[in-house]
Amino acid sequence: MITFKHIHKAYRVGGSDIPALQGIDFEIQAGEIFGIIGHSGAGKSTLVRLINLLERPTSGQVLIDNVDITALDAEGVRLQRQRIGMIFQHFNLLSSKTVAQNVAFPLELAGVANKHQIRKRVAALLARVGLTDHADKYPAQLSGGQKQRVGIARALATEPKILLCDEATSALDPQTTQSVLQLLADINRELGLTIVIITHEMDVVRRIADRVAVLDAGRVAEIGPVAEVFLHPKHATTRRFVLEDEHVDEGEERDDFAHVPGRIVRLTFTGDSTYEPLLGAVARATGIDFSILAGRIDRIKDTPYGQLTVAFTGGDVPAALAQLAGRGLAVEEVRA
Ligand SMILES: Nc1ncnc2c1ncn2[C@@H]1O[C@H](COP(=O)(O)OP(=O)(O)O)[C@@H](O)[C@H]1O
Ligand SMILES: [Mg+2]
Repeated sequence: MITFKHIHKAYRVGGSDIPALQGIDFEIQAGEIFGIIGHSGAGKSTLVRLINLLERPTSGQVLIDNVDITALDAEGVRLQRQRIGMIFQHFNLLSSKTVAQNVAFPLELAGVANKHQIRKRVAALLARVGLTDHADKYPAQLSGGQKQRVGIARALATEPKILLCDEATSALDPQTTQSVLQLLADINRELGLTIVIITHEMDVVRRIADRVAVLDAGRVAEIGPVAEVFLHPKHATTRRFVLEDEHVDEGEERDDFAHVPGRIVRLTFTGDSTYEPLLGAVARATGIDFSILAGRIDRIKDTPYGQLTVAFTGGDVPAALAQLAGRGLAVEEVRA
């Protein structure tokens, strides 16, 4: 659906070129929820703004449905933009218009003249995002979560194929974030919309994304299915995100384990094995002891997983690890 080809982007600042993106090559599939995660300044907003031509690449191409959008004329760009909705961290609603007028605005811009048709469409969109009773309020009278729901309804007004979300939940509290993410997931499923989510929060990606790209200093550090990238991070930037998320820094983790005897491994359970009593069974069968040093049970989208850092002592540790691996757990050595 969206292809980035050899993308470079530099901003000209005070006579010199500051590189923001340095060789981006990947594809986003139709119908997927794709997460782009990176620290501040990594180039996330620049990348997403290339998709609706709010920015142009210095070199390289952006293809949407195999059409090079960097080569479109002004009319082509205008039509293309109607196929792409966007929501923002600070909502960007028009404060002098009501909720209904905000949602109607893109339809008026697109040249829909029939007032009745607009009213019908706005009513359906507000029902979809749960704001029917708030149609005549002004943005200042709404909560953050309600404002973002207006943003979503407005973004969907012209029936786009792609929805871009730039830090769309970063100004919301955790509970409101969950409900907005749930709405986005429902919309993705019901409308088959391709959703691109830019965020610095791992939890957002973990809740709803299918695949993720980790952006670091204008380059893709790692890309793949969310479970693969977050449960088995290969790149230093991804590892930092995972450790930040668990509130440990890398040095601290090593120091903690220095005093722990035995062989330390990280075990990852996914799917049904998350709830099976495997550790106890394997310990009895092989005569080992184990102590759990760190752990987390959570979900990635719809898949439950558990990740435990465990120290094994006594008995036949190699046999225990082989049995755990044989039951489908991922076994990674932390310290031999
Ligand atoms: N309009 C701009 N003019 C100059 N530099 C910019 C502009 N927008 C972004 N940058 C620079 O490009 C880099 C990437 O920025 P951005 O895409 O906003 O990253 P992110 O969204 O990941 O925080 C940063 O170094 C930023 O300072
Ligand atoms: Mg940004």
